[in-house]
Amino acid sequence: MARDSYMNVQVGVDYYPEHWDESLWEPDVKLMKESGVRVVRVAEFAWSRLEPSEGDFQFGWLDRAIGLFHKYGLLVVIGTPTATPPRWLTHDYPDVLPVFADGRIFHEGVRGHRCYNSASLRKYGNRMIDRLARHYSSHPAVIGWQTDNEFGMLDCHCDSCNNAFRTWVKGKYGSLENVNEAWGTVVWSGEYSVWEQLTVPYGGSPHQNPSLLLDFQRFQWEAVADFQKAQIDILRTVCPEHFITHNFHSYPQRLNLYPVGEELDVAAFDYYPNTSPAKQSTTPYSGALSLDLTRGIKRQNFWIMEQLSGSPVCWMPMWRTPYPGFIRAYAWQAIARGADTVVHFRWRSAAAGAEQFWHGLIDHSNVPGRRFAEFTQFAGEVNQLSDLLKGTVLKNEAAILNSHEQLVALDIQPQVENMDYYENIKQYHRVLTKLGIGCDVINWREALDGYKVVIAPSLYLMDEEAAAGFEAFAAEGGTLILTNRSGVKHMNNVAVMQQLPGLLSHAAGVRVDEYDPIGTEPHSIVDEEGTAYACSQWNDLLTPVTAEPIAWYGDDFYAGIPAVTVNRFGKGQVYYFGTHAEESYWSGLLEGVAEKEGLLRFAGLPEGVQASVRSGESGSFLFLLNLSRQPQAVPLSRRYSSVLDGGERSGELALAPYGVEILKL
Ligand code: GLA
Ligand code: ZN
Repeated sequence: MARDSYMNVQVGVDYYPEHWDESLWEPDVKLMKESGVRVVRVAEFAWSRLEPSEGDFQFGWLDRAIGLFHKYGLLVVIGTPTATPPRWLTHDYPDVLPVFADGRIFHEGVRGHRCYNSASLRKYGNRMIDRLARHYSSHPAVIGWQTDNEFGMLDCHCDSCNNAFRTWVKGKYGSLENVNEAWGTVVWSGEYSVWEQLTVPYGGSPHQNPSLLLDFQRFQWEAVADFQKAQIDILRTVCPEHFITHNFHSYPQRLNLYPVGEELDVAAFDYYPNTSPAKQSTTPYSGALSLDLTRGIKRQNFWIMEQLSGSPVCWMPMWRTPYPGFIRAYAWQAIARGADTVVHFRWRSAAAGAEQFWHGLIDHSNVPGRRFAEFTQFAGEVNQLSDLLKGTVLKNEAAILNSHEQLVALDIQPQVENMDYYENIKQYHRVLTKLGIGCDVINWREALDGYKVVIAPSLYLMDEEAAAGFEAFAAEGGTLILTNRSGVKHMNNVAVMQQLPGLLSHAAGVRVDEYDPIGTEPHSIVDEEGTAYACSQWNDLLTPVTAEPIAWYGDDFYAGIPAVTVNRFGKGQVYYFGTHAEESYWSGLLEGVAEKEGLLRFAGLPEGVQASVRSGESGSFLFLLNLSRQPQAVPLSRRYSSVLDGGERSGELALAPYGVEILKL
């Protein structure tokens, strides 16, 4: 199988042969085949079965399972099992276990108990991967690998991490004088005089030097990427025909996804949209953002490695069972936003272990029910459209910038109650999605060519290179939207001694004379028509330099002072939001910008309905998804044909609750 087989549009399941009596395997695989499953992920937690004691490799059981998948024509992705080191390993080599800031050990018993800098984990993990890779490199069913499982930040304070961090800081700054200078350690007598004094931030106080805390996060990002790179190096050498992915999960993540994604062929996401009726006004939109963000990791299509199949539990009280249509509609939402393969978690609910009630497609009874029937319908539809959709991608003219550096810096020093970097991104993304404007979510350091409109929330840390990039984007005709808390700091997390927005002042054409962290207090702004809107979180009191005000504060001692401005800059313009305005203000503003800039837009979407377009050589396909419990009607501007049933659609398109339509453009 060629390495680009990840581009196939198909459906899969997560399966744990090691959890089931072997007599169940063949009936399971047979039913997978019948239900339209094409790919299966296995073994990401199976280390204790693959190597029950040190050096005793037992791949026979996995050979038999993969042999069955092959017999029924199913393809296989193998997970490297490093997220669950077995007990013999942690017992004999305790450096595998992470250590919390207060010295407590992250014990075995759950999963994820692995320090990325542990020499033993790397040694035994890489040996395992080498064996697995050699064993399966030419197996006709095996197409790819998932590295580890759901990387995240551990903030490990073990000796290995301590030493590695010191080496990392030495490498970055060269000398202790430079460290003292860059971090401003003179404050509170924190200056280092010999390298041994420089440690990971023991004790875990969030009020330690913010520059140290930010660099500790950056160090961990590199550690995760480096840990993964060692696995990838083995896999690339031994299995050059296989692709490599990793399953990211639940955003926002402090982990910087971009360097981890860089080495992969394809990014994957574990998608568990909330089934609770109370969340149905927000879930479709936060889910859309998660998918767009995942597509942005590599700026290409992606996989869902775990897709919701039933009511989840274990880590929280049980959610509602998915409403009829929910499983299918949310799986289609993933494809509509760029997923090529959707793998459902999991085939059958576990009968043992902590996640017994994290429901799979089939319940413990092993009697396929309503959820399974819905999944089968979805799989059948995907198989029918697979060739048509293969190679199609989303092409958007708007982007929102996402930065893990801004996120963690704002986390280290929360600016004000009620201000949350990712929640603000959610708002801007939701507004665009409701307006029917497709939007990419990309790393803030990416080139912005090709976008007409870019929203860059709170660029709190800034350097000259990035500022120049933003200026160039606007100068060449782009519309850049900046918000408060921009240009506040240097990249080493110390404040700039300039009027804000610091390095972005020229582009914004505005000066922040004073600011008022208002948090949850209700305040207002008034636009040019005299309409008042609520604002919250933060109020920058603005003096336009070259910009024009377009909204003013409506109250407090700064009533009448500019709150939002726009600056003509070269061929483009730069908006600056001094405050966090309510959704309806953003909606009006972005609608106007979309019109002015001629953004592609599917207007008239009812609440809960989302539109997106995938296009390629086979054509362009408009996805219309009703992610709500109410029937909805979508006005169509012309006659279309449905690729789901070949029928004609025009006028008002009726979408049932959780209804899905795919139209040929
Ligand atoms: C994650 C993991 C899975 C499973 C699910 C449900 O996504 O990768 O193994 O545990 O969560 O909790
Ligand atoms: Zn560690």
